[in-house]
Amino acid sequence: MINVKGTLAVLTGGGDCPGLNAVLNAVVKAALGHGYQIYGIENGFNGLIRNRMKLLTYDDVSGILPRGGTVLGTTNRDNPFKFAHVEKDGSITYTDESETILKNLTKRGIEALIVIGGDGSLAIGAQLSRECGVKVIGVPKTIDNDLSCTERTFGFDTAVATATDAVDRLHTTAESHHRIMILEVMGRYAGWIALHSGVAGGADVILIPEISYRIDAVAGKILKRQQEGKMFSIIVVAEGAKPEGGQMTVARIVKDSFEPVRLGGIGNKLAQELEEITGIEARCTILGYLQRGGSPTAFDRVLCTRYGVAAIEACIEGNYNVMVSLRNDSIVTVPLAEAGAGARAVSVDNELVKAARDIGISFGDEV
Ligand code: F6P
Repeated sequence: MINVKGTLAVLTGGGDCPGLNAVLNAVVKAALGHGYQIYGIENGFNGLIRNRMKLLTYDDVSGILPRGGTVLGTTNRDNPFKFAHVEKDGSITYTDESETILKNLTKRGIEALIVIGGDGSLAIGAQLSRECGVKVIGVPKTIDNDLSCTERTFGFDTAVATATDAVDRLHTTAESHHRIMILEVMGRYAGWIALHSGVAGGADVILIPEISYRIDAVAGKILKRQQEGKMFSIIVVAEGAKPEGGQMTVARIVKDSFEPVRLGGIGNKLAQELEEITGIEARCTILGYLQRGGSPTAFDRVLCTRYGVAAIEACIEGNYNVMVSLRNDSIVTVPLAEAGAGARAVSVDNELVKAARDIGISFGDEV
């Protein structure tokens, strides 16, 4: 490109999420349209360390808007400040690769880096800006919707739509077989996906990490329904839900990941316990990665486009070290340091929690 106004770079980090490609589509088209050139970095911070990047063109993003995944690739393992090397004997050593990153950015004349990621990637972005002087713009991604400083992360709406569809399907089979049907959804330490899909799907019980449940209260709700002639029940449980005085259920530990704990398994535990207490057959479906795959909803596509364009606007204005964010349906920017710090949980007096209680949905703390 002749007379470029500047050079930018973009990466997608953390777990994949519907809408990543829609953001890339907007970022690249807005950057090129404003006369900038932009590098796409492969596999998140890994590609930045390994110098794997290429200049993106209109062709690279043509047709990707509705596609799930990310054409750049991603990883939720690599932290450049604590880059893990797994040795043959399974032991792990760590190195600080922030200097390598700086070198790779400088070599190509990259003035600003757009990080599309969740709290882990945004915290790394904030550290890069604070400690190494890299100019970073964050875009809030995660199906979990658990980022502070924004009302909505992209990907959440699509995950909720997928989970709601699953609840609808479980309803008909639960009704036919007079069973308890449990749907375990993702969300890490926050119950946003369970809350929204549970309400949208008309669940009888919603269990979220923010409200510890009592198994006798959950069973009581199911037995009460049975007495009222409702021979089936639907439970949506967040992977991070836990009983009063108990712990979250851990599925695995990913040793070399910067967030090693992976939750999962609570749904099957619940099915067994509820079957024993109520005598009603119970089955569990773990929705898993279906929530992260597939085409983004129209809402997410629009949000991604707005976020992507706003990220480029921030670069043009020299408004660095910020994250683009949704506030009262407007796109604003917030300090990156605040955005990457601390998760946004469902508050117990959340308006949707109250509404759900008002229509008889139990959160397992009362029948
Ligand atoms: O943060 C997104 C998310 O899908 C969480 O809901 C889930 O707990 C986690 O990622 C799973 O991570 P992994 O892809 O490493 O199994």
